[in-house]
Amino acid sequence: MLHLRAQIEEAVAAIKSHWNKVPHAGVILGTGLGSLVEQIDVEAEIEYGEIPHFLKSTATSHRGRLVCGTLAGLPAMVMEGRFHMYEGYPLQQITLPVRVMKAMGAELLVVSNAAGGMNPHHQCGDIVVIEDHINLMGDNPLIGINDDQLGPRFPDMSQPYSLELVDRALRIARREDIVAHKGVFVAVAGPNLETRAEYRFLRLIGADVVGMSTVPEVIAAVHAGMRVVGFSIITDMCLPDALEEANVEKIIAIANDAEPRLRQLVMGVLAEEQA
Ligand code: HPA
Repeated sequence: MLHLRAQIEEAVAAIKSHWNKVPHAGVILGTGLGSLVEQIDVEAEIEYGEIPHFLKSTATSHRGRLVCGTLAGLPAMVMEGRFHMYEGYPLQQITLPVRVMKAMGAELLVVSNAAGGMNPHHQCGDIVVIEDHINLMGDNPLIGINDDQLGPRFPDMSQPYSLELVDRALRIARREDIVAHKGVFVAVAGPNLETRAEYRFLRLIGADVVGMSTVPEVIAAVHAGMRVVGFSIITDMCLPDALEEANVEKIIAIANDAEPRLRQLVMGVLAEEQA
């Protein structure tokens, strides 16, 4: 990890040449959730290709640019599109933007994703406020020599997602009449969806939703000492005894449909940050 600091500094310098503010929050938008950027009072838009050491986003529906400006009254850096392990990228590079957000001054990370729902009490289109996670990617962005200036060797994971922010998000959901549950997210490498036996296993070990992202970024954020709030949109129900064939177009359409509600939730959570 020792090489990361130079990369972070170069990326920060490139961003500061376009936008020289201290963000309160960094936001990573996942599948079908990109339109949150419409809420930003945009001050700078930077293509990932213009930022040293940022990767190229190859996933469908991931745009690939960093939007900086004011969101819900707060200075924020928003990643329109993220990187995934299944794209073949190392987790240290996937999580570099989180390090860069922290180095710019962000103390809060907001993450969102599309996920498969395994809790039979949940429904397609519902939002899950992530209260905890299970890392089943078989990899970890913190592997390697630790850079103590970035974070501790053995970061505590007793509360990776701020429970205060989970409660806040659920309270806002109730107020706005949005169906939201709290739940455990399990991350797998992908890119294939899971078999029935795998969904049965993932449910059995305590997960409510499954996806192919988010956990690496959250691990890096916790390592860096940031508060985290995370949301999943359930885009397909993954009940092993009633499993339907997955349809990626349908998954993206459901994520898009849920997007205004998630946007409202994220805006509500951020609006209370200032108070
Ligand atoms: N599994 C993994 N990732 C996903 C799923 C799923 O069922 N649905 C949306 N993202």
